[in-house]
Amino acid sequence: MKTVTAIALVSQKGGAGKTTITMQLAAALAAAGRRVAVADLDPQESALRWAEAAAGGAPCAETVFGVAGDARTIARALERGARDCDIVLLDCPPSIEHPHTLGALERADLAVVPVVPGPTDLWSTRAVEKLILLVQQRRPALRAALLPNRVQRTALAGDVLEVMREFSLPVLPVALAQRNAYAQSAVEGGSVFHLGRAAQAARDEMTRLAAALLDLSGAKKT
Ligand SMILES: Nc1ncnc2c1ncn2[C@@H]1O[C@H](COP(=O)(O)OP(=O)(O)O)[C@@H](O)[C@H]1O
Ligand SMILES: [Mg+2]
Repeated sequence: MKTVTAIALVSQKGGAGKTTITMQLAAALAAAGRRVAVADLDPQESALRWAEAAAGGAPCAETVFGVAGDARTIARALERGARDCDIVLLDCPPSIEHPHTLGALERADLAVVPVVPGPTDLWSTRAVEKLILLVQQRRPALRAALLPNRVQRTALAGDVLEVMREFSLPVLPVALAQRNAYAQSAVEGGSVFHLGRAAQAARDEMTRLAAALLDLSGAKKT
């Protein structure tokens, strides 16, 4: 059986942008010709609700499905749910103590940690990093990177981005800006790829992110 590339969106806090990035990234990867599934591992089921908001199914992924259970159950459910896909995005609960987060890290090829540049997110990112480094000791195949999200051009954001470079995990070469288009498309269950010209900057950003993650996860087409 073909193995699906799994990319997990992980953070210790709600509001870092896991669900937003999951759904926008699904659309960006689909636009790049990939078959994408989204697994919602958060009991709050935000990704499932996002997909439900779209009339006629989620336009950004082939399937959005809920997954629960221990690491083995999650791994099995992912292979089944994403059977016909190239990539499955794992939208994790907002806590590293939640067993689904560990289950996702046990299966993922790549873990992406969104970080909003502010002091509180830095603290919680230290905890996520610790968990990822621990899993990597057992599973060196797990790759991981930090993704600055909701970046604004302030001195504080600049300082935080500097501090992020001192983490053990690498910082992705793409950062996501604070943009209305990301929140707006959630209301309609769509993505920035379904919005007009005003969302072009967001689309460009997500396209660059998708390319960077395909590269890192080893899912790049040869
Ligand atoms: N880059 C961004 N620009 C603007 N709003 C964003 C951005 N990323 C996330 N948001 C908003 O922040 C809130 C939390 O995002 P969400 O994806 O639900 O976080 P999480 O899944 O990590 O809890 C949502 O209202 C979302 O629309
Ligand atoms: Mg979420």
